[in-house]
Amino acid sequence: MISEIRFLCVACIQACTVFFLVIADQTTQQGGLNVPKQVHIGFGKTTNDMIVMWSTVMNDSSVVEYHTGDNSVDSVSSASGSTVYFPENSNGLQYLHRVMLTNLRPGVKYFYNVRGEKRDSLSDQFSFTTPESNGKQTFMIFGDMGTMTKSLPFIVYEATGKTKYASIFHLGDIAYDLGRENGAVGDKFFSKVERMAARIPYMTIPGDHEMFQNSRNHYFHRLSNPGKDWPMQQEDLWYSMNIGKTHFICISTEVFFTNKQNIQKIMDWLVQDLEEANTHRQKYPWIIVMAHRPLYCSTDDKNEDCTKAHSVVRTHLEDMFYFYGVDLVFSGHQHMYERTWPVYKNRVLAYNYLDPRGTVHIVIGNMGNVYLTEKGSKPGGAWSSFISPSEHEMYGRLHVHNNTHIYWEVLGAQDNDLYDSRWIIQRIHGPFNKSSIFIPDPLGAAGAAWREQQEDDSNDIISLRFFYMNGDDYSHRITVLTFTVIILLFGLCFKKKILNVIRLCFVKQESLPK
Ligand SMILES: *[C@@H]1O[C@H](CO)[C@@H](O)[C@H](O)[C@H]1NC(C)=O
Ligand SMILES: *[C@@H]1O[C@H](CO)[C@@H](O)[C@H](O)[C@H]1NC(C)=O
Ligand SMILES: *[C@@H]1O[C@H](CO)[C@@H](O)[C@H](O)[C@H]1NC(C)=O
Repeated sequence: MISEIRFLCVACIQACTVFFLVIADQTTQQGGLNVPKQVHIGFGKTTNDMIVMWSTVMNDSSVVEYHTGDNSVDSVSSASGSTVYFPENSNGLQYLHRVMLTNLRPGVKYFYNVRGEKRDSLSDQFSFTTPESNGKQTFMIFGDMGTMTKSLPFIVYEATGKTKYASIFHLGDIAYDLGRENGAVGDKFFSKVERMAARIPYMTIPGDHEMFQNSRNHYFHRLSNPGKDWPMQQEDLWYSMNIGKTHFICISTEVFFTNKQNIQKIMDWLVQDLEEANTHRQKYPWIIVMAHRPLYCSTDDKNEDCTKAHSVVRTHLEDMFYFYGVDLVFSGHQHMYERTWPVYKNRVLAYNYLDPRGTVHIVIGNMGNVYLTEKGSKPGGAWSSFISPSEHEMYGRLHVHNNTHIYWEVLGAQDNDLYDSRWIIQRIHGPFNKSSIFIPDPLGAAGAAWREQQEDDSNDIISLRFFYMNGDDYSHRITVLTFTVIILLFGLCFKKKILNVIRLCFVKQESLPK
């Protein structure tokens, strides 16, 4: 009897709590119709500039008030920016705001609110810390994450927790998809990530999902790239910037698939940017590329570009990355985690990370998408050093310690268990082959396409290339060599017997008619 009464009481209290929470939620929604929502930040041209973005229901001006924490009125600065009406977001908030804060001081914590003209238009207070030019820096890296993943609250908690992240890199395939349900999914995504994205610069590149017809404009409007126009332009979806000791190059690999008229444009830009970056390697020794589609991957899906002998992405980029000494390439697209050895043209250059003489590739696309997270397939070549053994959702943590030392970790999104970690030590930054200069393919993209057409798998079986199927995979060479040696030895040992057998055959044939 007593336990039943207790049960009733608890049930009553719970029901009341939920009721009041719902009421409270409704009141705030009604009270603040034009309260800024989905606040997120990203770096401007340098780490001393910050772009602040948000959305509202109604038209309003765009203002950010910010200060460094001492509460005297004089210390509050304000900056204004622009508002864009985005009718395509018909199921979400249609007024998008963007303000650029400039000339911020490095290594300083800034507090800010965003607001419009009206009284009910003030946001919560958020804060961010600008990176310092020296000292260790940590970055959170993942690709392929949407609203469906259970890991999202965990990653938000992690990003705003103990580890101080200089920025987050989301390597394309955002929200699945930004424009779905007439924008409702995009709105939901930016609400869910606000807690971290309003505090840590949220840097992005486009994936194939951002090129879908109904999501493309959402990507161009809801986000903004450093030093680029806003809304973004289809032919200008790439950028580079220095953070701490690193020159980050953030590209669109979609130009090679859905947007081919821009191939030459991005290739020219890359050569120019890498050329320039190599003149500043004293100050920014590390060059790291962020791309949606990988150059190397191990997956059973043979339709994926990265598994092909003449992958479009690899054909266009690998030589350039090698000749300009790109230290690391991060990508997503494959919903798995994989780390390669330093590699060039399928050839492993070293089975360690001490002064690598080639680019190291890391695929981290298993954060949380609408599809299944892939378990590791069998290695695509000798270059594959580690493949995630489980279907866990994971994110990466990149610690740039100093000019020579990088520490890379991969953790489970929900449990923070460590799945992989490596030191990468580079004491001789620069082009990997000093005796070479990079010469772009004289035939350009058309040449690459032609060569791919020439590639006919059936030819491989009778050609020598059969023996070198996985490029310079030494296990293949060794197998072929071993068999040759065994056959030769066999022949030498049983020379007499073999000759006898042959003679017998001839004798028999000759004597048959008799
Ligand atoms: C928003 O308001 C500003 C003035 O405050 C006005 O110039 C602008 O045209 C308005 N935009 C829309 C789409 O109504
Ligand atoms: C760079 O960082 C690593 C790891 O923290 C450290 O062992 C090394 O001594 C540092 N190098 C310099 C030059 O400070
Ligand atoms: C470096 O470049 C030279 C000249 O182009 C070439 O002969 C050599 O094989 C290259 N070395 C590597 C490791 O690619």
